[in-house]
Amino acid sequence: MQQRLLAAGGSVDFRTYMEWVLHDPAWGAYGSGQLRVGPDGDFATSPSLGPEFSALLAPQIAQWLGQQPAEAPLALVETGPGEGTLALQLATALASGWPELAARTTLFLVEPNGGMAARQRQLLAGCPLPCRWLSFPELAAAPVRGVLLAHEVLDALAVERIMWDGTLWRRQAVVLHEGTDGQPSLRLEPGETLEPTALTPLEPLGLWPPNPQRPAGFTTELHPGLAPWLMEAAAALAAGQLLVIDYALEAWRYYAPQRCNGTLMAYRQQRATDDPLLDPGQWDLTAHLCLESLQSAAAAAGWHWIGQRRQGEALLALGLAQRLHDLQRVHGADLPDLLSRREALLRLVDPTTLGDFRWVAMATGAAKPSEASEPPSFLQDPPLG
Ligand SMILES: C[S@@+](CC[C@H](N)C(=O)[O-])C[C@H]1O[C@@H](n2cnc3c(N)ncnc32)[C@H](O)[C@@H]1O
Repeated sequence: MQQRLLAAGGSVDFRTYMEWVLHDPAWGAYGSGQLRVGPDGDFATSPSLGPEFSALLAPQIAQWLGQQPAEAPLALVETGPGEGTLALQLATALASGWPELAARTTLFLVEPNGGMAARQRQLLAGCPLPCRWLSFPELAAAPVRGVLLAHEVLDALAVERIMWDGTLWRRQAVVLHEGTDGQPSLRLEPGETLEPTALTPLEPLGLWPPNPQRPAGFTTELHPGLAPWLMEAAAALAAGQLLVIDYALEAWRYYAPQRCNGTLMAYRQQRATDDPLLDPGQWDLTAHLCLESLQSAAAAAGWHWIGQRRQGEALLALGLAQRLHDLQRVHGADLPDLLSRREALLRLVDPTTLGDFRWVAMATGAAKPSEASEPPSFLQDPPLG
């Protein structure tokens, strides 16, 4: 890190720093493949808690795949597959529950980090669907029909951090200093001021014109990586749905004057800190999505916005309560397994953690819904008991 910073003149904007610490192939958290996803790794995600999440999500994927023309080749694309757990669970669920769809489906994995892709290949060696690792531009050469999943990946796109100095917005910079003991250290400092053209996109977010309640030193994030990502994703899909599942907030919550330090967090070995400079490359860095920023970037990239819902409500709509109830009637299963499945189901809807994730659905190409289209299952009322 220090050598890269020195080569860059001793200071870079925060977005570049985040890109380096996550993706440097030698020492970046994902680039080197050192981060582990799961309860025994650096942080847990919904599918890493067991098969329950994918079992509930699979019918939604099948509903969308089933809307494609009969006999068309189908694609299930996962971007940012981590360990490959979600991809394997969904492929397995499709193969057993919807064999006709599965027989036409290829699993595509979009993973820029070689170290992560190597582990995915190992896990998916026994996958019941054919698997291919491609980039978005490679997919765009022959766009596919189907479903694109982005589960806990857009929160890893490098964010721009801006700081209100009481008069102006400034881009936050990461600066290399020499301490009094002669040891180099990193610091976050206010950098260049935002140019007038950069202020216009802040208006719909409530960040401009100035709000007198916003204290000097207020720091937050912007998401310039979303628009190019959504453009590349749209080009990869000839027709189909994108399901984004991630931490996300409405702009009025995200940029409330009280949220003085944004949403940026670092995770490692099941610990969390809001210091992004700690051991660069050893921690996962993530920032919440802003729903309005996502929606406007999606519209600019040609996506049709279908709707969004909290994970707790989405999973209830997909039958979580019934699944919980059915666990009581399983005979012959061992008690520890039943208890851990029950625990996983409850964690998935816990409103203080995973249940507060947002599920956001969009469509492109011929899959854009008409007025008469039925909404996807996860946006409908939960089934009555
Ligand atoms: C938190 S993990 C996702 C875990 C996985 N989706 C799951 O549900 O368990 C983030 C993954 O996204 C990958 N990633 C990071 N930036 C990415 C990008 N711009 N495009 C695609 N994948 C990316 C990482 O290498 C890693 O595989």
